[in-house]
Amino acid sequence: MASIAIIGTGYVGLTTGACFSHLGHDVICADIDEAKVARLQAGDVPIVEKGLDRLVDEGIRSGKLHFVVGAESASKEAEFHYLCVPTPQGDDGAADLSYLETAASQISHVLPNNSVVVNKSTVPVGSTRVVARVLGRSDVAVVSNPEFLREGTAVADFLQPDRVVIGSRDQEAAIRVAALYSRIAAPIMVTDPVSAETIKYASNAFLASKLSFVNAIATLCEAVGADVNDVVLGMGYDSRIGREFLRPGPGWGGSCFPKDTRALAKIAQDAGYDFRFLNEVLQVNADQFDRTAQKIIDSVDPGLADNHIAALGLTFKAGTDDLRDSPAVEVLERVVGAGMQVKAYDPAVLVDDNRLAIVHPDLDIEVVSDPYAAAEGAASLVILTEWDEFTWLDFDKLREIMIGKNIVDARNLLDPSIPRRRGFNYRGVGR
Ligand code: UDX
Repeated sequence: MASIAIIGTGYVGLTTGACFSHLGHDVICADIDEAKVARLQAGDVPIVEKGLDRLVDEGIRSGKLHFVVGAESASKEAEFHYLCVPTPQGDDGAADLSYLETAASQISHVLPNNSVVVNKSTVPVGSTRVVARVLGRSDVAVVSNPEFLREGTAVADFLQPDRVVIGSRDQEAAIRVAALYSRIAAPIMVTDPVSAETIKYASNAFLASKLSFVNAIATLCEAVGADVNDVVLGMGYDSRIGREFLRPGPGWGGSCFPKDTRALAKIAQDAGYDFRFLNEVLQVNADQFDRTAQKIIDSVDPGLADNHIAALGLTFKAGTDDLRDSPAVEVLERVVGAGMQVKAYDPAVLVDDNRLAIVHPDLDIEVVSDPYAAAEGAASLVILTEWDEFTWLDFDKLREIMIGKNIVDARNLLDPSIPRRRGFNYRGVGR
């Protein structure tokens, strides 16, 4: 087994470190945030990731997983050094590499001979060369090993991946990194670093394109009177299309797709290719936010304009507590901007949770502690995140406590016959 340093303990770094320790490696995770390191050392996992707390606890008990402050402390005795630091979107759309460069410069003087530095964060094409330059160590190989983790299922995605991608022109370094995954049953492909980085961006951009396509098809279905659920079901039987990632919604979001899709368009532009298709994918997504917001505004009967809208769901998808680039928030910003009042409930967002104010400071809505508190006196009700608990709502009770009787289901979560049987008008997406 190997000794691995993990630099950065966000959902990628913490998941990578905990899973590598579960695979038997000796792992030291480093973060700059002393309070966060202290919480992790006590086994307190600050993010919602299914199974992660169990793996962290297992790793601490087995002595295979440690947490320290500062990248140098982790890297001075490790053989592999995983860079899992944020690569946020810069003002021009390109990824901001300052955290990556800082981490590389911090460890360059403590790396043991023949160490391997691994880029796990999503980094622009060509970043492996940037890290190698910052390190300035000819004895140290730099390898790309992009992550394909979805929030909420990151542990499962790491331990049962569809593939492991390794980008290196140094075959010996590539083989050493591949050996870290020897207990994982998945294809391991080795390519050059630029191709590995491009696989990551192209995969995310393709998935976002698939979602924009299905949202556009949903709009077409509304125009021609088709049922998008049947349309995507019929499409998905074709193995070349597949059943996954065909659920229409209010638009797509999260901390990756918007950032990575814009970054790829910028990478292409800087390389001399005007990636118009990708810009249209982003535009279709923005249009979906607009279209969903307009549906909600239209759901308020004229005489009820002074009543609020009950919004169910704030996170960017069900199964996570992440509010970054949430489609729900994008839509509600538009609804509030049109002068409507909103009371919102989300099972992963507590009433006194200040994250919403931090991530979206100009969103003026009231967050309440349960769906019925949101629905009391509401002109209409909208579902923006596909939390399973919203399928079990008491629609008889909702009919009693709401003033209006319109429901907008932006995730096609409900069986329309259930609210309709209780006197509600129901509007979904593409049906
Ligand atoms: C994504 C990629 O899936 C993952 O491989 C990559 O490593 C990181 O980015 P994540 O951002 O966690 O993962 O979310 P994902 O599950 O892909 O959903 C992204 C957005 O698309 C969400 O807003 C989600 O609600 C939306 N979505 C997803 C749909 O609207 N319909 C679908 O069918 C699937």
